[in-house]
Amino acid sequence: MAATTPAQPLVARTVLVTGGSSGIGQATARLFAERGARVFATSRGQHPDEGGVEMLRLDVRSAESVRRCVDEVLARAGQLDVLVNNAGVMQEGFVEETSDADAAAVMDANFFGTVRVTHAVLPGMRERRRGRIINVGSLAAWVGEPGEGFYAASKAALARYTEALRHEVWHLGIAVSLVEPGAFATGVLRAGSVTEATISDYDGPRESAHRTLRDALRRGADPRKAAAVIGKVASVSAPRARYGAGWDGVWVPYLKAVLPQRVVDLALRRGYHLPMRRPR
Ligand SMILES: NC(=O)c1ccc[n+]([C@@H]2O[C@H](COP(=O)([O-])OP(=O)(O)OC[C@H]3O[C@@H](n4cnc5c(N)ncnc54)[C@H](OP(=O)(O)O)[C@@H]3O)[C@@H](O)[C@H]2O)c1
Repeated sequence: MAATTPAQPLVARTVLVTGGSSGIGQATARLFAERGARVFATSRGQHPDEGGVEMLRLDVRSAESVRRCVDEVLARAGQLDVLVNNAGVMQEGFVEETSDADAAAVMDANFFGTVRVTHAVLPGMRERRRGRIINVGSLAAWVGEPGEGFYAASKAALARYTEALRHEVWHLGIAVSLVEPGAFATGVLRAGSVTEATISDYDGPRESAHRTLRDALRRGADPRKAAAVIGKVASVSAPRARYGAGWDGVWVPYLKAVLPQRVVDLALRRGYHLPMRRPR
């Protein structure tokens, strides 16, 4: 069989979107279904099929659950063209107050969860010399925002993993990209966890940081805009390594790269209403 390269338009016949029960994942699954793809989306709970999207059970924290889900997709559709690794959880908490177990939990869902699903689909994509993997990271990978340090770490780990994988499988006809959304109005905070406050020194900054995050998400963009970016990555002939989604997902990494660090620090502290002066 002649090897295809990722520099060819990919007609997405079969798509798997992890975490497709709400928010960005649900909007993405609906978009692919509207475009005529056969779409599988997942949830840890029971969800009825709707709008041409076939719902499957998946908990990315379990290797067994991942294997069952991918086997089911391949049994029903025979192949998988596009994997969107969207499932993820938010965790709010200052780093010193976050237990090892809570830190490990967010890494397990956001980073190792993506790794598990990706590794389950790669053998089929390698065999067909064809496929596209789109990992949903976050703007948080670029800015260690106060109050979401371990969430940011999980998405930063995902970014470097995605970059390495992209180079490793490119010659096999598999294109790997990262989509990093800024703030989108979804239920991600409601579904996430909040670390218990245990250190009074952080009371003021913690409250400011959490309020800033909640306000940003409340005013966030429509998740269909992030879905449109993911849809574009699936259909362009040569997808780039990284795409921002939302104005902040596009501009903040650029500004962070060009502005002096001192200006970035001041802007972040002001934006998060954190103390501007250190004690002398
Ligand atoms: N909203 C934002 O501003 C924003 C910004 C940057 C990045 N993101 C990223 O975008 C992705 C989608 O988030 P969202 O904002 O759309 O939030 P959301 O509405 O809470 O969606 C999260 C999805 O992930 C699924 N999920 C959670 N834990 C899972 C697990 N262990 N196994 C399998 N599925 C799991 C949920 O499904 P069930 O609960 O039904 O299992 C749900 O469908 C996440 O990776 C998030 O980090 C969001």
